[in-house]
Amino acid sequence: MAQKIAVLGTGIVGQTFAERLTALGYSVTIGTRNVADTLAKTAPGPYGNPPFSDWLKANESISLATFAEAAQEASVLFNCTKGDASIEVLALAGVENLSGKLLIDMANPLDFSNGFPPSLSVCNTNSLAEEIQRAFPTLNVVKTLNTMNASLMVNPTLLSGEHTVFVSGNSSQAKEEAIEFLKAFGWKQASIIDLGI
Ligand SMILES: NC(=O)c1ccc[n+]([C@@H]2O[C@H](COP(=O)([O-])OP(=O)(O)OC[C@H]3O[C@@H](n4cnc5c(N)ncnc54)[C@H](OP(=O)(O)O)[C@@H]3O)[C@@H](O)[C@H]2O)c1
Repeated sequence: MAQKIAVLGTGIVGQTFAERLTALGYSVTIGTRNVADTLAKTAPGPYGNPPFSDWLKANESISLATFAEAAQEASVLFNCTKGDASIEVLALAGVENLSGKLLIDMANPLDFSNGFPPSLSVCNTNSLAEEIQRAFPTLNVVKTLNTMNASLMVNPTLLSGEHTVFVSGNSSQAKEEAIEFLKAFGWKQASIIDLGI
């Protein structure tokens, strides 16, 4: 049976990961706050992408569920949520559904209060991934991929030439597991830089 993955987040990043992971043979459930509300969204996405319900219809093997339902079934979670809502999302997912699992986190805590380009609301001596790890100590958080466009995250060959991606996290085993996903996406081992904890 295919390994179950929870992609937390219904935006363009969640959609991009859900499609790529499905193509790689994983069983993907995408998580949201309220299934009915998300299915009722009829406006195109912010990047001119189709409304979520149209996208889901075109990707019929991907399931939609609440954050808690998606996390409960999965052995690995991808955090594709708005950075300043990520901790709230993980609380909605339920600590009992997170314990001992890998969370691959590519969210950025963007602050648009002073316009564009945004700044980071958490940075320098702290980070979103560290805040998530402190809030959910039994979750194995690995930060990676957040420095590039979502299309490139799951298909690094879209950009010609040598380029690198970092991984960072407390658990060596979780980082190894995350690296296996990166390699499945097309990242070469030599292009993956382990920044430590
Ligand atoms: N776009 C890129 O190429 C790119 C590159 C690097 C990093 N990132 C990061 O990837 C993440 C996802 O980006 P995105 O553009 O796909 O989506 P997004 O619009 O940043 O986030 C969408 C998700 O966040 C949830 N959410 C938003 N506000 C919430 C709140 N107040 N409480 C609970 N949940 C909330 C939404 O839940 P519902 O489903 O319930 O609406 C939705 O699932 C972000 O952190 C972004 O900074 C994006």
